[in-house]
Formats: sequence, structure tokens, C-alpha cells
Amino acid sequence: MFASVCLLLLQAQSTALAEHNIPNIFHPLSTPARTEFGVSMLVFAITGAIFVVVAALLIYTMVRFRHRPGKDDEAEPPQVYGSNRIEAAWTVIPILIVFVLAGVSARVVWGVEDASPPKSTLHVTVIGHQYWWEVNYPYYGVVTANEIHVPVARGGQHATYLELTSNDVIHSLWVPELGGKTDLIPKRENHMWLDPSEPGVYRGNCTEFCGVQHANMLLEVVAQEPADFERWVAAQQKSHPVVAPVSDGQKRFMMCAGCHAIKGTHFMGRLGPDLTHIASRRSIGSGVLPNTPENLRAWISNAQDSKPGCLMPAMKLTSKNLDDLTAFMETLN
Ligand code: CUA
Repeated sequence: MFASVCLLLLQAQSTALAEHNIPNIFHPLSTPARTEFGVSMLVFAITGAIFVVVAALLIYTMVRFRHRPGKDDEAEPPQVYGSNRIEAAWTVIPILIVFVLAGVSARVVWGVEDASPPKSTLHVTVIGHQYWWEVNYPYYGVVTANEIHVPVARGGQHATYLELTSNDVIHSLWVPELGGKTDLIPKRENHMWLDPSEPGVYRGNCTEFCGVQHANMLLEVVAQEPADFERWVAAQQKSHPVVAPVSDGQKRFMMCAGCHAIKGTHFMGRLGPDLTHIASRRSIGSGVLPNTPENLRAWISNAQDSKPGCLMPAMKLTSKNLDDLTAFMETLN
């Protein structure tokens, strides 16, 4: 009865989680995440058993030896000294437990790290910035930000291999459904790989404190059917050639071009996210706002309102200029 209630609660919870796109460490959907989930369950079982044994002994002692009226409170319990058997038991058993936990964890960590990616692996470079993620697909010539599109992996095909580095301080990438945390360190390249088994949007976060907006350094892995992924790549590869007449918004973009690039134009700033296909993205500001025209307009007007401390300054534009710029950027899909 209790078990079935728990199961029902868990099921209700997992659907709610799926709807709200909240990361769930109990729902691994990629080989590294599944392997790591297995170790967590083993650790949980061993430590859970220790907890039950210790708690049971504690409760037994508290009940069995509680104060009773009429008993002599001054009397000492029997004193045990120098029992080699007891001392050996409480030394050897914890050492064995620590060895088992350390050995299994080390084997899994090395197993996940050393697994060589299959031939058809997609290579993606992810660069951490304060406070957003640059995502490069060198083979396809695609640059985007804050969302990593990958194909769903089936039958050992289409795994995605991430090369991770940082532009400034140390960040760490964690998408709980797909794998463990890996640091992004300046002047160093770390690796991780994932092979999502189901299409979906998996939310991740920076998990190494990197400054005031660390908590708002979110990212999403969008796992798509291979054909959908190919379509996404083809759309992202398109550039935006400048065609006359140039709109007011596009002229206004000149003030953004010190930091932002649009492929196919002379706007080639590299400090901020590449905006070639900004309108196709799901969020603004690395996950702080859903990508709607109103939010984009508010973000351009003063990004510090929604993400205080981010590097994007308030643009101090008139209402007309904001409208023009937003309208232009909505064409970048
Ligand atoms: Cu980037 Cu915390």
C-alpha cells in the first residue's frame, strides 16, 4: 500500500517535472547519466543501510536503557576495554565500505571519461562567458548561444561530444538528465559526451560560482530527431545578406555591433552572443526571459533590470529606436 502510494506520487511528480522542464536527477536519459545514476543508487543503498542500522541501534538503546522510576541513576553500565574483536570490526568494516564506494566511483568516472566516441560523433565547442554559453559547431560553421541542439542518439549512433573551455573564469556545465558536471576552465579543454535517448528540452545550469549572475547562467540542450536536427543546422547556416533598403532598425544595430555579430553583414562583434538567429532561440539572457518581442525590447532597453551585473549595458534608446531595433531583430530567425 505504502509502496504504491509512493509510486503514484513519483509518477505524478515526474509528469509535473516534464511539463515544467525542471532538471531531474532521478530521470537519466543519456549513457553517462545512467551510469552515474547507477553509482548514486549504490551509494544511496549502502549509506541508507548504515543509517537504518545506526538509527535502529540508537532507538533500541534509548528505549531499553531509558530512565525508570525506582532505578539507581548513579550505577555505571558494564565497562568494556581492549576487546580486539570489537575494535577490529569497527575498523575493518568502515574501511571496506570506503574502499568499495571509492573503487566503484573511480571505475565509473574513468569509464565515462575514457569511452571513445563513435565515428559519427557530433563535435560541439562550448565556451563559458560571464554569464552565458557560446556554442560552436565547427564542422557546420554554426555559432549560437545558450542552447545546444543535438540529435537523439539511437543504437550507438549520433552521440554528441562537447569540448569545453572558458573565456574568463571557471564555469561548470551540468545538465542533470544527460550527464555529470564538467568544469570549463580558461586555457584548458575539458570533454564530456552525451547521447540523449529521447527528444526533449533538457535544462542545465552553471554549477561553479562565477560571479553575481552565476545562478542565471542557464542553458538548454534541445535533443531532436536526426532529421529535425539537420533542418535546424540548415536554418542556422543561413546568413542575412544586407538588402536595400536598409531598415531603420538595421541601421540602429550599428551601436550593438561592437559586441554582437550577424553572419552575412558587417556586424562582427565577438564579445557578446552571436545574434544571427536570435529570433529562433528559446530564451534571452541565457535563460532569464522567454524570447518574446516584448521581452527582447525590454532587454535591449535595459538588460540590467532582469540580469543585474551582466555585461550588457542599458542602451538608453528612444521608444521609436527600441521599436525599430526590436522589429529588425525579430527578422533574424
Ligand atoms: Cu558560470 Cu557560474
